[in-house]
Amino acid sequence: MTHTFPENFLWGASISAHQTEGAYQTDGKGLSVQDTRPRDNHEIADFTVAVDHYHHYKEDIRLLAEMGIKIFRFSIAWTRIFPAGRGEINQKGLQHYSDVIEELLKYGIQPYITLNHFDLPQALEDEGGWSVRSTVDAFKRYAETLFEAYGDRVTHWLTINEPNIMLLVDKKILGKEIPLQEKYQQFHHLMIAEKYAFKRCHELIEGGQIGPVPNISLVYPATSKPMDNQAALYFNSVRNWAYLDFSCFGRYNAVFKDYLNRNGITIEFAAEDQELMEHNFPDFVAMNFYTTVTVEKPTEKDGMANGISDQQSEDIMEWGFYKGFTNPYLKKNEFNWTIDPDGLKTTLQTLYDRYHLPIIITENGLGAKDELTDDGKIHDSYRINYLNQHIDQCLQAVEAGVDLIGYSPWSAIDLISVHEGISKRYGFIYVDRTEQNEKELTRYKKDSFYWYQTLIETNQLPS
Ligand code: BG6
Repeated sequence: MTHTFPENFLWGASISAHQTEGAYQTDGKGLSVQDTRPRDNHEIADFTVAVDHYHHYKEDIRLLAEMGIKIFRFSIAWTRIFPAGRGEINQKGLQHYSDVIEELLKYGIQPYITLNHFDLPQALEDEGGWSVRSTVDAFKRYAETLFEAYGDRVTHWLTINEPNIMLLVDKKILGKEIPLQEKYQQFHHLMIAEKYAFKRCHELIEGGQIGPVPNISLVYPATSKPMDNQAALYFNSVRNWAYLDFSCFGRYNAVFKDYLNRNGITIEFAAEDQELMEHNFPDFVAMNFYTTVTVEKPTEKDGMANGISDQQSEDIMEWGFYKGFTNPYLKKNEFNWTIDPDGLKTTLQTLYDRYHLPIIITENGLGAKDELTDDGKIHDSYRINYLNQHIDQCLQAVEAGVDLIGYSPWSAIDLISVHEGISKRYGFIYVDRTEQNEKELTRYKKDSFYWYQTLIETNQLPS
């Protein structure tokens, strides 16, 4: 059997603004919750300089063009456009992304822009963040501003990065724990904000296409015990389907509603919500995938302390519903995340069967401690191996009938990991800096860069 991908398959690479740009107060940028986030570990790099993609974007895009990517997924920093989240537009910020878009188009690379990737303006957070309705209005204005400014050149958009993981792993990503009632009111506001983005993108951009971008990975039951299967049903719903059912079907699903009821959570709707939910839908689903999760039903001996400490580890507990379980059949990476390429195919098939929309993978990759050799090389065969296994499963999913249109791994270039600073690297391009020493930020091509370049050129996995 041939291992060739469909013609026009969208090979890409992804980044986010706050993890790469740095220049956190340059050209009028306001502070975001990522700039102010308290860190439990001050030994790791913050986002103030990151890899200074803000000033290096031309060099970075030139390298990515050399690698051969067809699409580039990046996010816009809301605080560059509206430093305080709303109000006057910061023209310098608007111009910056216009320049980035031009640079991409110069090389024939199509931009896929995420409206917001974890970096809510701090000024909005001070007013209550996603807990208050006014943030939805501010987001709507922000999204409209981008569609109006760039819609003549950018047709493909992603809404809000991983609202599911942002809410579930609030402490790690946002630096604070959100009480359950508030968390699911935030869920509603995030999803309504997304619905506005669908609506306005379709109204303002001719041929505009937009999709949600959650982190989706199947949840397995730890055993064939019926109650473990029930635990998996609930976590699948809370982690995955609640978000996508809202985006793609315009409703709260029944398992999720039961989860909310049993937790005594009531969600407040505004007058326009029902109409908005039921009439605005995505054109495709973008999904981020790193691993699968396994859960069992908690018992009395597990205690009742709820919480999730890391998005992909098994440290998950919600009394009465589910508890993380170490899957004995899967290996782990050096940061304790399980590796499950087969699970990617099953996740893709499940997702496609549920929504029947084209799918694009907008994150997948291996975080590792890379080493720069004296002669300027990075021999990241472990990353090549990870990508190879996952891309192989993508191909198998395509052959099994899934409408997978593209693959844009994490990450185009080394960036500051949400959890582990710069020590956990994902990029095809190495950036020479350490946690505390920014050095010259020199870029080097890793072995995976050349491997991915060949893959894109031939449109097939090396045999
Ligand atoms: C995804 C996020 O959930 O996971 C990225 O969208 C993040 O922003 C990625 O970098 C990997 O997580 P981490 O903690 O290894 O950076």
